[in-house]
Amino acid sequence: MLAEMDDDLAAEAVTYREADTADLDDAALDGIWALTQAAFPPGDFSRDDLAHAMGGRHFLADADGRIVGHASVVARLLDVDGQPLRTGYVEAVAVDPVWQGQGIASELMRAASAHIAGHYQLGALGTGHPAFYERLGWRVWAGPTWVRTADGPVRSEDEDGGILWLPTPTTPTTPAEPPISGREPISCEWRDGDSW
Ligand SMILES: CC(C)(COP(=O)(O)OP(=O)(O)OC[C@H]1O[C@@H](n2cnc3c(N)ncnc32)[C@H](O)[C@@H]1OP(=O)(O)O)[C@@H](O)C(=O)NCCC(=O)NCCS
Repeated sequence: MLAEMDDDLAAEAVTYREADTADLDDAALDGIWALTQAAFPPGDFSRDDLAHAMGGRHFLADADGRIVGHASVVARLLDVDGQPLRTGYVEAVAVDPVWQGQGIASELMRAASAHIAGHYQLGALGTGHPAFYERLGWRVWAGPTWVRTADGPVRSEDEDGGILWLPTPTTPTTPAEPPISGREPISCEWRDGDSW
């Protein structure tokens, strides 16, 4: 009974909001960085990873006057077997360890997924925790992954099985734009840090 009341109080103390990167002030940007450093194992989340999370839409959870949960969606062009798809790519999913296990990341991912469904032909993300996202309707990409570099496409075998995708209402389904099965080769453009 007491535990249930504690959970209710915790849930009430968390508020959710969305913002474009351009509308985040320095305190919010610092807060996102601090959150990632608290949530990820030491050295796992780099400044490159932070840069990858910028330039799109942020989904934020606030509590105790600070940011305790974050996910963002940035625009990328993924190529699925020769079809370039405007993709909402999820970055920097993190919840403060003190606030984990209360559904915060699930709530942020529901909002991020709805944003992707409304704006993109495909959702995608790279993760070492596929099961967390599969519970929320995401699927493991079963095809081979590639990175488009200045020297041409390069296989990224290490990422195979760690890329997840989400179909949207505008995911191709016709012969003119062949339907996506998730078993095709898929590629992203190269970038500093982790390309996927
Ligand atoms: C992964 C993370 C974002 C989850 O945040 P959270 O707010 O605790 O997640 P939720 O409370 O919404 O979790 C909901 C469910 O997912 C499960 N879950 C959490 N992490 C999971 C994981 N890594 N794999 C599988 N399931 C997971 C929880 O057990 C919970 O299950 P339940 O509802 O059946 O009890 C958080 O643990 C975190 O910040 N980890 C460090 C950073 C990280 O790994 N980010 C993701 C990188 S892609």
